[in-house]
Amino acid sequence: MKDIERRYFETNAVIRSVDKLTDNTVSCIALSREIAGLAKPGQFINVQVTSGQLSAPVLRRPFAVSNVNGDEFEFIFNIVGRGTKLLYDILRSKETVNVLGPLGNGFDPGDGSRKKLLIAGGIGIAPLKSLAGHFSETGADVTLFWGNRSRRDFFGADHFENKNIKLMMSTDDGTAGFSGNVLELLKEEIKIKNIADLKEYDIYVVGPDPMMKAVAGFIEEQGARCRVSLETPMACGMGVCQGCAVRKRGSEEYKLVCKDGPVFYSDEIEFK
Ligand SMILES: Cc1cc2nc3c(=O)[nH]c(=O)nc-3n(C[C@H](O)[C@H](O)[C@H](O)COP(=O)(O)OP(=O)(O)OC[C@H]3O[C@@H](n4cnc5c(N)ncnc54)[C@H](O)[C@@H]3O)c2cc1C
Ligand code: FES
Repeated sequence: MKDIERRYFETNAVIRSVDKLTDNTVSCIALSREIAGLAKPGQFINVQVTSGQLSAPVLRRPFAVSNVNGDEFEFIFNIVGRGTKLLYDILRSKETVNVLGPLGNGFDPGDGSRKKLLIAGGIGIAPLKSLAGHFSETGADVTLFWGNRSRRDFFGADHFENKNIKLMMSTDDGTAGFSGNVLELLKEEIKIKNIADLKEYDIYVVGPDPMMKAVAGFIEEQGARCRVSLETPMACGMGVCQGCAVRKRGSEEYKLVCKDGPVFYSDEIEFK
């Protein structure tokens, strides 16, 4: 194991389990005292997806730390392209996986006395899972909205229900929960007064860029603020290559998602 900087490590984490959660979603639990000991909700790891092949991608792939249990940590990912396909093969065939982390700033847990509203789109649930777990341990009042295309895209709902987190689902095709997208679900909950005033909540939104832009735009219109976690494509993951820059709202300046983020207040940044 090589100590890159005091805050994060490069290590060969021992693969404990690899499970398909849906047709396309994989959970990996790995053992690393350093990563598990340091990772805060919202931080991420940069995972090597090479296993000796010359044709394999050089760049690591970033994934949120979804859960920590003792010396073990979990990351959950969708198989979307070459890197994640290779990673799934590596996880199933090797004993260890090389990870760099924990990286990034993580979520600010906000004021302990305030209610928490977590809004996930698709695999955006991955970083919010650890945050929801953290809040439930502090006894906070936590509501989680999770939107997916269809019923088959959900996994692990019992994890949240067992932690007394109020989980509300939405599906685009109406096969589970509210029929519509997660923003429509939020508007409906406000309309029927299950949510009185968004300004009473610490709000965290993670999902695809168009979803975060739409949800954050609505929250800002209501005079409230929310934190978002950006998933900009990355190269180094450590603030060196400038490949993950996003523009600061109303400014010509840029922020680095890997180093200054991935978590920002939505009104601090310009969505693409
Ligand atoms: C801080 C951070 C945390 C993330 N956490 C998770 C997570 O917990 N679970 C999860 O499933 N995904 C997460 N992602 C996205 C994940 O890194 C990409 O899906 C993955 O790198 C795609 O690799 P690929 O080679 O399979 O895809 P590619 O073949 O390279 O591309 C397939 C698709 O993925 C997009 N993509 C490619 N590379 C990245 C990248 N580095 N970041 C974002 N999008 C990319 C491309 O635009 C394209 O649409 C996170 C990204 C960031 C930046
Ligand atoms: S990924 Fe290189 S600076 Fe952020």
